[in-house]
Parts: sequence; C-alpha cells; structure tokens
Amino acid sequence: MSLLNRNPHVLSRFCALLLLGTAALHASAQPVAQATVASAHPAATVAGLETLAGGGNAFDAAVAIASALAVVEPYGSGLGGGGFFLLRQAGPKPTYRFIDARERAPLASSAQMYMRNGKVQPELSLNGPLAAAIPGLPAALAEITSRFGRKPLADNLVPAIRLATDGVSIDRVYIDRAEGRLEAMRKDRETSRVFLQQGNLPEEWDLLRQPDLAKTLERLARYGRSGFYEGETADRLVEGVRAAGGIWSLEDLRSYQVVERQPLRYPLADGRELISAPPPSAGGVALAQSLGMLAQLPWQKAEPTQRVHYVAEVLRRAYHDRSMLGDPDRIANPVQQLLAPDYLKRLAAGIDPNRATPSASLPPKPTWREGDHTTHFVVIDEQGNAVAATLSVNLPFGSAFTPPGTGVVLNDEMDDFAADIEGSNAYGLAGSAANAIASGKRPLSSMSPSFIESPNELAAFGTPGGSRIPSMVLLAMLQYLDGRAVQNWVSAPRYHNQYLPDVLEHEPRTFTDAQKADLTARGYTLKDVGRSYGNQQVLLWNKKNGDVDAASDPRGIGLAAGTTVHY
Ligand code: GLY
Repeated sequence: MSLLNRNPHVLSRFCALLLLGTAALHASAQPVAQATVASAHPAATVAGLETLAGGGNAFDAAVAIASALAVVEPYGSGLGGGGFFLLRQAGPKPTYRFIDARERAPLASSAQMYMRNGKVQPELSLNGPLAAAIPGLPAALAEITSRFGRKPLADNLVPAIRLATDGVSIDRVYIDRAEGRLEAMRKDRETSRVFLQQGNLPEEWDLLRQPDLAKTLERLARYGRSGFYEGETADRLVEGVRAAGGIWSLEDLRSYQVVERQPLRYPLADGRELISAPPPSAGGVALAQSLGMLAQLPWQKAEPTQRVHYVAEVLRRAYHDRSMLGDPDRIANPVQQLLAPDYLKRLAAGIDPNRATPSASLPPKPTWREGDHTTHFVVIDEQGNAVAATLSVNLPFGSAFTPPGTGVVLNDEMDDFAADIEGSNAYGLAGSAANAIASGKRPLSSMSPSFIESPNELAAFGTPGGSRIPSMVLLAMLQYLDGRAVQNWVSAPRYHNQYLPDVLEHEPRTFTDAQKADLTARGYTLKDVGRSYGNQQVLLWNKKNGDVDAASDPRGIGLAAGTTVHY
C-alpha cells in the first residue's frame, strides 16, 4: 500500500496505478476503461479497488465502498441512513438506473409530529430517535449486489466488516464533525460509548473499533436484506428506538423497499446529456434548470465576475422552484413543466445582465433547511460500468442516537421534510405541502449524483453539502464544460445562492476584493461562510483511449485512485 498517497488527495491515473491483484477473466469483454474509484475516505477507496481487482464490477465495488464509508465515516453516511445510487450499465447503448434508497418516514408519522403548542420544535426532528426515518442503505446494498453485481453480498461486505472489527484511525474530519455534534452525542449513552472517549472528543490517530457494527454487517452479509430488516438487528433497532421515545415498528423495517426510478435526463449542447437524480431529489431538476438557463446566456465568454452573476441568478431561480417538489410516490412533481424550453427561456430572459434580482421580487416560498453532511463516491470498472452515489445520515452523526447493541447511528433525515407547511409558492401550488411529513413518505433531498455523457466521454460528479449540493455540482460541471482538468472541478472556489435567504454565500477565498466590490454594486449581499465546504468526488473517462482521470476534493481526506485489472 505504499503507493497510496493521501497528500495531495488528487491522483490521476498515471500517478496512482495500484496493482492489487488479478481479476477474474471475463470472456470476450475487452477492457475499455481504467478501473478507478474516488471516495471521501482512503479506506473506502481501497475497499472499492480491492473489490474491482478481485473480479467485482463497478456495482460490487459500489457496495464495498458504501459499506466501508458506513464504517469509516459514521458522521456522513451509514447503515442507519440512505442515499441515491446512479448506475451506468455499459453496452453499445448504456442503460442508466437510479436506485432510490432514501429513508422513509415511519408509518406512525404525521404532519404535526414535531409541533408542540402550535410551534415546530426543531430539536425533535434533529436529535434523538424521533428524528430518524427508516434506513434505506442496507436494502440498497443487497439489491445492487443481487441485481447488478458479479459477487455475493458477503464478499462485497468483507472490507467493511474488517474495518469495523480491526478499527480505523480517527482523523481530523471525524473530530471536526463530532465537535459540532458533541452536545447531542453526549445525550445518548450508546452514541457516546461508541463514538466518543468517556464522553469527550477522541484524539487524532485513536483507533475506532466498532464490534457491534461488525456483527450487524455480518448478519446483513449472511442473510441479505432480511439480516437487517428482520430478525435480531430489526428487533434491536425497534426496541432501542421505542425505549427512547421513538415511533418505529417492526413493520416499518419489514416493509421498507428501495425504489428504482427513471433517472432525470436532459440534453445539453455538443451531443452531451445530463443524467441525474430525479425526485425525491430536487438536485437533478435544479441542475437541469440551471444548465438550461445558462444555455441562453453568454456565461462561457463572460469575465469572471459576470460569470458569477449569471450562475448566481440561474441558481436563485432554480432553488426558487424546488418547493414544488416532493416524494414522487405521493405527489405529482411538475418536472416536465420545470424543464420545458420555453419556461427556462422565460426565466433566463428575466435575468438582468448587470443587477442581482432581489429574491423578494420573485414570488415567495417557504423556508427549509437541510443537514450539511453526507458523502459521495464515484467508481468505474474496466467495462465502463459506473456508479455515482451520494449517501447520507443528514447532520453529522445523524440523530446522534444509536440503538444499543447495533453500532448503527440513526439518521435525522426527518428534518428534510417541511415540518411546517405554512406558505405557498410562485405558481399558486401549495408550497412545501409537497414535502410535508406523511406516513411512509420520503423526504425531499438535494443529493445529486450525476453523469454528463457524450459519445467520447463520461464525466461523473457529486458531493455532500445539504442545500449547497446542486450549486457545488453545477460549478464542477461548468469547469468540465470549460475543458478544465478534474483537479479543478473539485478544487475551484465555491459560491452559492439558494433564493432564500437572499445572500450570495461563498468560501473565504472565492472572491478578490475587486470582485466583492463589483458584486456588491450589482446588488448582492455577500456572506463569507467562514470555512470551506463540500467534498466532491469526480471522474472523467475518455472513451477513445480508456484513460480515466479522477479527483478527490482537497478540502477532505479522500482518495482518487485506479487499479489495473489483469485479463
Ligand atoms: N440530507 C441531505 C439531503 O438529502 O439533501
């Protein structure tokens, strides 16, 4: 493993060739791509490479990476959470699939469940067992392996079980995330026992061993989805939740299903196509709307501040429209209308080339809030099968509640619902009613695993970051459309406009003083968020020569690397 270089975190195919073993021969199939992984944690990237080198395809590797991330980044995703997997099955005409493993509201949920004396109590949807929706990740791991993989689930879970059993070093990201959630983590004895040191933050390089999680993973490996959603694990989860005041039932777990949906597809210029997340993600719609509006504007030739203005204005309008979206199994999402060329032309025509549009001059929409942690990875195998997946437990360490004996920290994805549905949107639709809490419903998400594909290339994108996910992915896509190297896609400075609050957020070093003055003169209220954000993982496959370049965001500790699969 001496070739694994954690610093810098961006490795191209040429400087990160890992020879991890000899893969099984797959008759007649000639390799067309360098098998490559980029994920938010080196151990998860290695889990994916190990699986690819051991004969697994990109779908097996995705299961290995996702389950490893569940162990090494318990603050970002996990068996107690969910996510979205965007799959590309190679072929003369590739097939795209979207596996919706989003959490589901418990059956006993109701629209008013976080109201006390007529007021929403945010604490209830953020911390503790009432905040937790029914997890989707374990079902996705089983489903993806059995439908698309080459290997058994037990094989794909080997790296995760090893990491949970042997332990993983605590790193600076872990400490930073735990610090932000320390108060909530201390309130739950089991979370504190498993993830803290005597109720305090662990130190860097301390070893995090998770024997209970290893056993939970072993039951999943042995029995498949029923090893999590029924039997001993299910009993412990439900007992733990109910003993602490939550509302889960065994039926909630038994009836959970991942849903395969049609990915959102949107044509771009030059024979390219966007393939992205449909509802219950709002991300794909926002990306398609933004790219559709930008196609009407001279953004590519604009000087840097003028470009920021165009991008901020298309984001403002795309985020404005999101309040119309919700769980597609419960509401009719007006996706076609939101992506109609005439509609996007009209929106773009409303952008003043010199002035910011005050958000208040657009029709109102309800406020909403989203957790800002999650994780993302991309993987491609030697056949051109690929996965972009964004996985989440919502806030760092989710609800900070761990049912005793499971090792599974539960999500607080219930907070992604609109707990208060007061308000209406631009078009007379009942605003965030589309995302109101209801029994068994999926909350709206921003997670946006995406591809842009053309006859010559496949680019894969994604990042954690709550409501900023679509703007970050858009900025990375613009770098790609500009022909910049993958390193730039992940490292370019970030800014964000989400309609409300009406501010242009940015990382500390995004703008020069002159740009700040220019943007302020255009009517923007700038907000330095005081820290970097996001953790993009991307790759670019050149189909003509098989090269794959991948990059992991320098803001995190992730790793992008390739492996050679021998035939
Ligand atoms: N919980 C973050 C998201 O789904 O967007």
